[in-house]
Amino acid sequence: MNSQAMIHSRITGTGSYLPGDPVGNAELIAAHGLESSDEWVISRTGIRTRHLAPTGTAGSDLALEASRRALDMAGRAPADVDLIIVATSTPDYIFPSTAALLQSKLGITNGAPAFDVQAVCSGFAYALTIAEKFIRSGSHKCALVVGAEVFSRILDWQDRGTCVLFGDGAGAVVLEAANEPGILASALHADGRHNNILSVPGQLNRGQVTGDPFLRMDGQAVFKFAVKVLAEVAHEVLDAAGMSAAQLDWLVPHQANVRILQATAKKLGLPAENCIVTVERHGNTSAASIPLALDEAVRDGRVQRDQHLLLEGVGGGFTWGAVLLKF
Ligand code: UT7
Repeated sequence: MNSQAMIHSRITGTGSYLPGDPVGNAELIAAHGLESSDEWVISRTGIRTRHLAPTGTAGSDLALEASRRALDMAGRAPADVDLIIVATSTPDYIFPSTAALLQSKLGITNGAPAFDVQAVCSGFAYALTIAEKFIRSGSHKCALVVGAEVFSRILDWQDRGTCVLFGDGAGAVVLEAANEPGILASALHADGRHNNILSVPGQLNRGQVTGDPFLRMDGQAVFKFAVKVLAEVAHEVLDAAGMSAAQLDWLVPHQANVRILQATAKKLGLPAENCIVTVERHGNTSAASIPLALDEAVRDGRVQRDQHLLLEGVGGGFTWGAVLLKF
């Protein structure tokens, strides 16, 4: 028998950052001469505006602002952080990792491990789950877990089927060792057979870009897959914790399309009001969307301490995952 008290992990702070002013659909459509309309984008996706990082602003810059805000809420100094995980598919460089750059920008010199997680729109669920396992093992006590993306850099602005969907931003949480949960259950999945329905199939090869360096998506295939696996993985973590969907205070899903969010909430039998929705103002910010939505709902007072939250995402790979927690 293990006589040691079980170590749990709990979110102690949240933060987020969106670059610049919101850019509306009509403005974007006019700027790129797209055959599209504000009405089409709103009716098919719910998206009205998104934020786009200016040239010279990198994902690590967005991550830095979000991290400072999360640390501030947690009452922690950068030097308290002993683990940094950044979920991103749009890193500043091939290497070093965005997490290592973030560590340097935060002035952290304590040797804390820092690494990126690449699971596209499921990246934050992956990163949070990994951090939880580090903390529960007893090896680390104060993790900074970030989702940061500049998807505007990988969009083909002539592809109306994708370029209107995405935005830039970052969200962060501080996850700390605690005597009580905290994170109640998590589940991560991937099925690489579906790698071609959402991808950026390009490479750097001897100084040349080969393949296609832009985001390509079979929207309908992604849509169907997303609705199916988001409901499945939600039930998986609820079952693992012995809870029912009716006990959830908030669903905080990856923000890709308001129709996917509504369909997922409906499948879980949750009222639409219990689903945090930011996609209309943020667009799809990939790994950043869940912590951005969480931080917004924490700061506007909707999410309260001790409430039950289900965070879940789905994205390229294909990957998907969920984290059930007591906030
Ligand atoms: O974050 C990872 C996950 N990503 C997602 O979850 C995205 C999932 N997919 C979706 O959200 C939706 O499938 C989309 C928003 C991408 C597309 O909506 P849809 O209702 O599935 O439309 P569709 O792809 O079936 O396209 C319908 C029509 C097509 O024209 P035709 O072939 O019927 O003549 C498209 O060419 O809409 C056309 N279309 C557009 N029209 C105006 C596609 N994009 C646009 C556009 N403006 N921006």
